[in-house]
Amino acid sequence: PDPDLARDVASSLRAIPDFPEPGVVFKDFTPLLLDTALRDRVVADVVRRRAGAVDVVIGVEARGFILGSIIAHELGVGFVPVRKEGKLPADTHSVSYTLEYGSATIELHTDAVWPGQRVLVVDDVLATGGTAAATVELVGRCGGQTVAVEVVLELGFLNGRDQLAGTEVHALLTD
Ligand code: PRP
Repeated sequence: PDPDLARDVASSLRAIPDFPEPGVVFKDFTPLLLDTALRDRVVADVVRRRAGAVDVVIGVEARGFILGSIIAHELGVGFVPVRKEGKLPADTHSVSYTLEYGSATIELHTDAVWPGQRVLVVDDVLATGGTAAATVELVGRCGGQTVAVEVVLELGFLNGRDQLAGTEVHALLTD
């Protein structure tokens, strides 16, 4: 247990006003990646919860790749990228979801997750939940089972969890 972790992560996040567009305050987690002690605590916190219960870790492009890879390494399991449309070279499953304006599509190699595998999904932020819900759907298309979605930061006011009914969502920190 690491009771001060959420507080320390909160103070490491850098708020950037008007990025990527006016009116949005972007929470930049790159300082956390440079703070090796804090980064290790974040990884250890996830590993403590999931050790022995996960067969593979999915990281969601792009920022989910960073902590997802470290967590997969520490859990001693494989790492699988979920990528934006057109980036993965082999056969893929594809799921589209609605954004405020338009839609987005993410993909997973069909042979990256096997039937019955227990999958941990890692990303930096849960916002509207569209990306995470589409990732859970991709896991299901492969016959895998999503054990949980782990994020550093949940933007609670966007109610992303509502899109993930039936899936455990753990956020280190909620805004
Ligand atoms: C961000 C974030 C999540 C997603 C969350 O990624 O890293 O993947 O948005 O948003 P949602 O809950 O509303 O779907 P982004 O699309 O900015 O991609 P990037 O990491 O490649 O910059």
